[in-house]
Amino acid sequence: MEPKIAVIGLGYVGLPLAVALAKTHVVVGYDTSEQRVRELKEAHDRTREVDESILKNTKLQVSTDPSSMLGADIFIVTVPTPVSAGNLPDLEPLRKASEVIGELIGKGSVIVYESTVYPGVTEDFCGPILEKISGLKSGVDFFLGYSPERINPGDKIHTVDKITKVVSAQTPIVSQKLAQIYGQINNNNIFVAKSIKAAEAAKVIENTQRDINIAFMNEISLIFSKMNISIYDVLEAASTKWNFLKFTPGLVGGHCIGVDPYYLAQASKNLGYDPQMILAGRSINEAMPNELADLMTQRVGRSLRLLILGLTFKENVPDLRNTKVTSLIEALRKRGHQVDVHDPCADPKEANQFFGYDLVPVLTLDDPYDGVVGAVPHTLYCQFSTADFSRFLKPQGWVFDLKAIWRSSPPAGFNYWTL
Ligand SMILES: NC(=O)c1ccc[n+]([C@@H]2O[C@H](COP(=O)([O-])OP(=O)(O)OC[C@H]3O[C@@H](n4cnc5c(N)ncnc54)[C@H](O)[C@@H]3O)[C@@H](O)[C@H]2O)c1
Repeated sequence: MEPKIAVIGLGYVGLPLAVALAKTHVVVGYDTSEQRVRELKEAHDRTREVDESILKNTKLQVSTDPSSMLGADIFIVTVPTPVSAGNLPDLEPLRKASEVIGELIGKGSVIVYESTVYPGVTEDFCGPILEKISGLKSGVDFFLGYSPERINPGDKIHTVDKITKVVSAQTPIVSQKLAQIYGQINNNNIFVAKSIKAAEAAKVIENTQRDINIAFMNEISLIFSKMNISIYDVLEAASTKWNFLKFTPGLVGGHCIGVDPYYLAQASKNLGYDPQMILAGRSINEAMPNELADLMTQRVGRSLRLLILGLTFKENVPDLRNTKVTSLIEALRKRGHQVDVHDPCADPKEANQFFGYDLVPVLTLDDPYDGVVGAVPHTLYCQFSTADFSRFLKPQGWVFDLKAIWRSSPPAGFNYWTL
């Protein structure tokens, strides 16, 4: 008989996974957020990862009631793993989820963690909580697994059914069981890792590697701007070499790339090793909003009334968590600029609730700006022509193109700047 599966945490990661698993299994989705569960019951996914028509037809049951998971054989945990104010790993959501699961498990249960963590969290942090609450023994009565999630919000190509899924567990039999279950989602595109810790480490270095590579781009873009060389001219030339890695400068926000390196760094510090490269990458990327605000201010030499295009942490997603555009806005304001923000993907209510911003609802010429800052390459902005800029920008106004969105054909009649 196919096992009953419970997915704990129905966000960007949990919902698409739960919906995919529900095609072949009995799946219950549990989330502590009343609002999230209410919206999902109404077939509305505010993360825009799962379409309304799919939610209307899925067999997935969602609930805020832990007892809805009674009788589940496999528990998959996809709760957040943020950092605290001091950039320390915050394992509270994992603790709470494990405490709830501990009440529900029995002999033979399998608990798989998907949240991004540092090596050891599954077996040395979550396992003991499950043991304490359930009174059962890890690796004997119930079994742990770890399967990192690689989906990339807003990316409609690398979806949960198309990416290689790494699985790991305490025993080979449980690993095979997980490989078989996840394999039904993605045509058996499974990699069984040697150990749970290896799988945990693999995920955290995937994101740390990106952070470090982007930090290198950010650093050289600042060096080259002092030399009056465009980083993009350099990258075009350098990327003709077969083994040159293709990264570009940018603000690193969100709850993965800008957060996960801190997990690895803290685990390293706990073991007495100072993770210099990882933290150097973080500090370069964290400094970029100030650096960019300085470059723009130096370029114009006066205060401007600016419109920022894009607030979300990356393109074409509504996710505002840990967006670094807010740091850029604050840095520009500190340098005397007046700043408004527009974003076609962000929820205006959330922008106000989280940051106190009133998003500019429409781009018109009623009160034209001295400059615009292309901060997030949403598709709408990528399609802008000169006529679009003319709708909200003064003649000879400034176009600060932080993501080189319009670099190939800068709008005519304006001052154009990019790195
Ligand atoms: N979003 C991504 O791109 C991505 C990609 C790969 C891995 N991850 C990792 O996956 C994990 C989840 O990320 P996400 O983006 O889906 O987060 P999210 O914030 O979108 O979703 C988490 C959900 O869990 C719920 N939740 C919080 N605490 C809970 C609890 N104790 N019990 C039940 N539900 C709870 C929240 O209400 C929310 O709906 C994180 O560890 C993240 O690092 C995220």
